[in-house]
Amino acid sequence: MTRPILPGKSVRVLLDAETIDARTKELAREIVAALGTEFVCVPVLKGSFMFAADLLRALHAEGAQVEVDFVILSSYGNNTISSGQVTVQRDISIIVRDKKVLIIDDILESGRTLSFAKDLMAARGASVTLCVLLDKPKRRENNLSADFVGFECPERFVVGYGMDVANCFRELPFIGVVDD
Ligand code: IMP
Ligand code: MG
Repeated sequence: MTRPILPGKSVRVLLDAETIDARTKELAREIVAALGTEFVCVPVLKGSFMFAADLLRALHAEGAQVEVDFVILSSYGNNTISSGQVTVQRDISIIVRDKKVLIIDDILESGRTLSFAKDLMAARGASVTLCVLLDKPKRRENNLSADFVGFECPERFVVGYGMDVANCFRELPFIGVVDD
């Protein structure tokens, strides 16, 4: 299915809303089975906001009672030399020492962002678990793997369901690729 979005641009659906919803509910069951019902959730903004919102509701339906706080991380993207440096633009205020922390992100690609986030929480004494909606394992530049993965992602730049190109397409309820 192809849906017109902007003049001259359309987004081809890769994963529709129903498919994402069903997998998110499964992930919530798997997470509660592994972590129990009390832990801290740390979505990595901005791309994970829609997935995190749905996953949090699914975790609630599974009986979880979680604390939630957000980090905003940025890595140098297009138009800059990719130094692999990740910076914290907004940090959590929850104390995570001796707590279980579930880091939630949209895509695991090179692994730089989540490896930074994991180290940040682990350095504060948290026991860290990683959950990503999409995994692009062939693009990995370190040996990081996520504990919970929604779907393996094709080697394409995807948008929708929180993910963007220049802050566009985040509002789409599905995940797709931009066709020119
Ligand atoms: P990593 O540090 O290379 O693992 O970067 C992962 C981050 O890059 C994700 O959290 C996304 O914000 C972004 N990203 C990677 N691939 C895509 C994509 O296909 N679409 C949108 N954002 C992406
Ligand atoms: Mg991101």
